[in-house]
Amino acid sequence: MKIILTGIKPTGVPHIGNYFGAIKPAIDSAKLHQVRADKSVNGACSAYFFIADYHALTTVKNAQELKEYIRQIACTWLACGLSPTSVVFYKQSAIPEIFELATILSNYTPKGLLNRAHAYKDITQNKAKGDEEVNMGLFNYPLLMAADILAFGTTDVPVGKDQKQHVEIAQGIARAFNAIHGEILTVPNVQIKSDVATISGLDGRKMSKSYGNQIPLFASSKELESYIKKIKTDSSLPTDPKSTDCDIFAMYKLFASKEEVKEMATKFAKGIGWGEVKKELFRVADREITPLRDMYKYFQDRPENVEEILNRGAEEARQMARTTLQMVRSAIGVI
Ligand code: ADP
Ligand code: TRP
Repeated sequence: MKIILTGIKPTGVPHIGNYFGAIKPAIDSAKLHQVRADKSVNGACSAYFFIADYHALTTVKNAQELKEYIRQIACTWLACGLSPTSVVFYKQSAIPEIFELATILSNYTPKGLLNRAHAYKDITQNKAKGDEEVNMGLFNYPLLMAADILAFGTTDVPVGKDQKQHVEIAQGIARAFNAIHGEILTVPNVQIKSDVATISGLDGRKMSKSYGNQIPLFASSKELESYIKKIKTDSSLPTDPKSTDCDIFAMYKLFASKEEVKEMATKFAKGIGWGEVKKELFRVADREITPLRDMYKYFQDRPENVEEILNRGAEEARQMARTTLQMVRSAIGVI
């Protein structure tokens, strides 16, 4: 059986880049796999989506902030269509087995493997104080991620390109453990979402909270309109033909129907003012986001429902993690 698993770090307010780059494709793929609902059917699979709150600790140190991000991420995923009856949805911090597994696996992880992880290398190479500026949470980040993955017998990990190395580290750790103790841990496949475009932010760079150029997914209609007005454009006149190879057209394509895109491309070829393009972009964006925003508010107003969904997910996830851990404990000789 296929087991797909992916983690979401609660480190900021979700933006449109996260929606099209991570949230939407993950939810679509869970729907596509018809997870759990028809477990008995051949080829069915289960899916685990979780909030990687202990991974967020490497950067978020303010309790109130972390709590808020966790809540926002949970409501966002539920609002965007994650179905807790077909996906096991939980907080990493609610699964103690993951951390026990990480401790065990640290003994099968060469330090050199973690030295080569991009995030760690970037800091040690680019910061004056090198290692002094790296906390062990950041250094151990790929090890904890390996435990997240291996605790559930995961077969497939859908992630963005930036996470490929982390999944490869998890594969390496699983193989090292299995080489000594036999085929206990499932070696996961990495599924790179290669067809997912990088969405540009207001200033033309990749939309990212680290650049402060993002459009929050759940900005109000009014705010959304004013964000869209701020998207960088060139100084061509409304009568000038325009190339569709630009950020604003790329964003329009994400929200508009095929016919609308075709029509807009014709207008670009003939000449159209940026003001009009932005008005049309706002219309289609608001059309897609409004129902999600309403659902987001629905979950925001019902924190106890969200909590209950996460608790139920954690219970189910723990059952699976316990099974893996029993096998691991027995293999290493502590039981
Ligand atoms: P940020 O860059 O704002 O810090 P994260 O690194 O937390 O965002 O990204 C969370 C997920 O959203 C990742 O899977 C990442 O690939 C996706 N993502 C983030 N920004 C973009 C973007 N501009 N375009 C497409 N996908 C994105
Ligand atoms: N490191 C991932 C990110 O930054 C989040 C994550 C944590 C994850 N654990 C995971 C992703 C396990 C996939 C599988 O986006």
